Amino acid sequence: MEVFDSSLSLVKCLSNKPRPLGMVPTMGALHPGHFSLIEKAMEENQTVLISIFINPTQFNDQNDFENYPFQIDSDLEKIKKYGNKTFVYVPKAFDIYGDRVQSKSFDLNGLDVMMEGEKRAGHFQGVATVVSYFLEIFRPNHAYFGEKDFQQLRIIDHITQSMGLKTKIIGCPIVRESDGLAMSSRNSLLTSEERKLAVKLFEGLQFAKSHAKKVPYRALKEMVAAWFDNYDDLALDYFQITDPKTLKEISFDEPLTKGRGFIAAHLGKIRLIDNLDMS
Ligand code: PAF
Repeated sequence: MEVFDSSLSLVKCLSNKPRPLGMVPTMGALHPGHFSLIEKAMEENQTVLISIFINPTQFNDQNDFENYPFQIDSDLEKIKKYGNKTFVYVPKAFDIYGDRVQSKSFDLNGLDVMMEGEKRAGHFQGVATVVSYFLEIFRPNHAYFGEKDFQQLRIIDHITQSMGLKTKIIGCPIVRESDGLAMSSRNSLLTSEERKLAVKLFEGLQFAKSHAKKVPYRALKEMVAAWFDNYDDLALDYFQITDPKTLKEISFDEPLTKGRGFIAAHLGKIRLIDNLDMS
């Protein structure tokens, strides 16, 4: 494993490494969800690049940015086992942004107007800025992203195509704790009481799935909101079922035929998201 903080030196080093090159972009605080991406990249590529960078432009909340877990020494220790076909990019913001730490402006084809895009202004422009930088400079053959950030995955797929980049974007299934909680770096910030409640996001999605084909979607949304009212310390931000490609909400007057359920909720200072195929 070799670690770089400069994209130019890393590009030079990668230029004589065997392809295909698989990239796993992360913000660190690595957990089994990330390892599932790295392991898929290891299986499908001759060279694997992992980035660890807490991208400032994708945080709409300064507090969230400042509290985001940063554990670079233990992350690097955990990546070591993947051996010498692995390269790690751990830049400072200057390496990517120079002295103007700002998002570029992308046409995201309306995929950013709902859910996380609506609740977190500018978030997806920040994600698109940093991911397009990675894909343009390192030109990976494959790039791996978790389905936990499903809207992010759809947006990255969109910008890759609209920019004519050759990288194949590969979405990987959500990895869950034994009780069903989707793994996330933010879980490490939960108190033990919050951790017990956090699983309600997944249980709420399962509750919705068990009723989604029986009642009109309008009624289902009310049922899910009422179900969350049972948990005082958990504030539902949104529950929506959308078409998995366009991310547009399904018809309010019909029961579900196919779609993906998305949920976001606040637990104390932490905001968690999850999603589930409802078909
Ligand atoms: O999903 C993440 O960890 C981040 O949004 C990503 C894709 C690494 C971009 O900063």
